[in-house]
Amino acid sequence: HLSVQERIEKKRNAALIGGGQLRIAAQHKRGKLTARERVQLLLDQDSFVEYDMFVEHRCSDFGMEADHNKYPGDSVVTGQGRINGRLVYVFSQDFTVFGGSLSGAHAQKICKIMDQAMMVGAPVIGLNDSGGARIQEGVESLAGYADIFLRNVMASGVVPQISLVMGPCAGGAVYSPALTDFTFMVKDTSYLFITGPDVVKSVTNEDVTQEELGGAKTHTAVSGVAHRAFENDVDALLNLRDFFNFLPLSNKDPAPVIECHDPRDRLVPGLDTVVPFETTKAYDMLDIVHGIVDEREFFEIMPNYAKNIVVGFARMNGRTVGIVGNQPKVASGCLDINSSVKAARFVRFCDAFNIPIITFVDVPGFLPGTAQEYGGIIRHGAKLLYAFAEATVPKITVITRKAYGGAYDVMSSKHLRGDVNYAWPSAEVAVMGAKGAVQIIFRGKENQAQAEAEYVEKFANPFPAAVRGFVDDIIQPSTTRKRICRDLEVLASKKQTNPWKKHANIPL
Ligand code: COA
Repeated sequence: HLSVQERIEKKRNAALIGGGQLRIAAQHKRGKLTARERVQLLLDQDSFVEYDMFVEHRCSDFGMEADHNKYPGDSVVTGQGRINGRLVYVFSQDFTVFGGSLSGAHAQKICKIMDQAMMVGAPVIGLNDSGGARIQEGVESLAGYADIFLRNVMASGVVPQISLVMGPCAGGAVYSPALTDFTFMVKDTSYLFITGPDVVKSVTNEDVTQEELGGAKTHTAVSGVAHRAFENDVDALLNLRDFFNFLPLSNKDPAPVIECHDPRDRLVPGLDTVVPFETTKAYDMLDIVHGIVDEREFFEIMPNYAKNIVVGFARMNGRTVGIVGNQPKVASGCLDINSSVKAARFVRFCDAFNIPIITFVDVPGFLPGTAQEYGGIIRHGAKLLYAFAEATVPKITVITRKAYGGAYDVMSSKHLRGDVNYAWPSAEVAVMGAKGAVQIIFRGKENQAQAEAEYVEKFANPFPAAVRGFVDDIIQPSTTRKRICRDLEVLASKKQTNPWKKHANIPL
């Protein structure tokens, strides 16, 4: 007979090796780390405090009650720890135990840390690597998913929630990452889908591989389900640490500020010439973003999806900001369905978590065509308009060139409670470009060229907006960083609230 102390030791040791050395070796052979190795890499050294190492599944069907089918801790490692000294709750699914599948006990462990994260106000990071519902447990497992989903929804807008998919995530399991604020993936070893290739084949007769159906490339470039993909487990976890540093711990926390070595009043001479003289010529909005933010550091969100808009996190004078910018390099930077939805969700995250938003505008309008209209561009474009309008965080807007039509209104305009709106001398705020405008208002008339020149003189410049106070100033591009840093300092104490409501009704 073992003493209690010996039994504790034995269980702890059993928990530490999960499904055993053979399955750990199989995990490594696939280029994947184990659940515990991942937690160690993600968190500061020795900061992990584990919960529920002794929890076991309670299933007694299909021989599951046998001792050899019980694993202390079951198929998930949970607890809290620190990233650069800041508190975070973590769960890491253990593929070596029943394929990381979700038992009732597994779900309960996750719910426990989510509840505590909500009470203390700290983010939750989920490392997903699971074969889905524990088949032997049936509805118990489905109930477990729903318990997690409910908590994901309740935590939405209260504490940041991040999913890093590091293996399979299929069936109902996909909806937890989908409900979280950010979903990251690991290239080649992770996939997300509602039903796997075999079911797809039997229902739609399509031949598709796991990777094509739900791999990192699919979700970061085609579906927009995932926000970024990384090379391997180590790369993903280290990037996640960097990413975490941008986030406040909860909606009661201000945007984090770190010590900044990049002078706040640094001039950026390159910006004076970045916008080409010809208004139809493209340039890279990222050159402007990199030039302005601290240390050129920009954590882009969804860099391979709807590339006509750029969104991501950076810092200004050490303070986290959200950046939104039209990208003239792709489809002339026009707004379409995907770019509207991408940016709307980003803006709403920033607003929920007190992160000021800086918007760079060069937009020729919404993308025309049946594909867009049939796809519901009206409904989807409204999301971005809605998101900017409802946002009460500090909002600073810089019109670098075109701000045409309805898209001018949408892009954090003064009219949507923009706090500080600037135009560069190259700005053109108008209903549309000169050519299109003249074709409509001078249809069939002679002297089109002269009319066009007149239109350009009147409208293709920042003055019509500036004389009406729709932009607060016309600024030299090289001074933009300095101006924004100063504005953010002033706006740090901004207080604005929206009317009371149960919840709003954003067009979905
Ligand atoms: N429930 C219980 N056990 C599961 C499981 C599940 N949902 N998914 C995987 N496992 C177990 C396997 O029985 C296997 O156990 P073993 O190590 O004792 O042999 C272990 O996890 C590893 O699974 P395996 O199938 O060998 O790994 P794989 O990498 O070849 O395939 C999956 C991984 C996820 C594609 C595959 O296991 C699978 O299709 N699982 C079922 C997915 C599903 O339909 N889930 C329910 C929908 S929510």
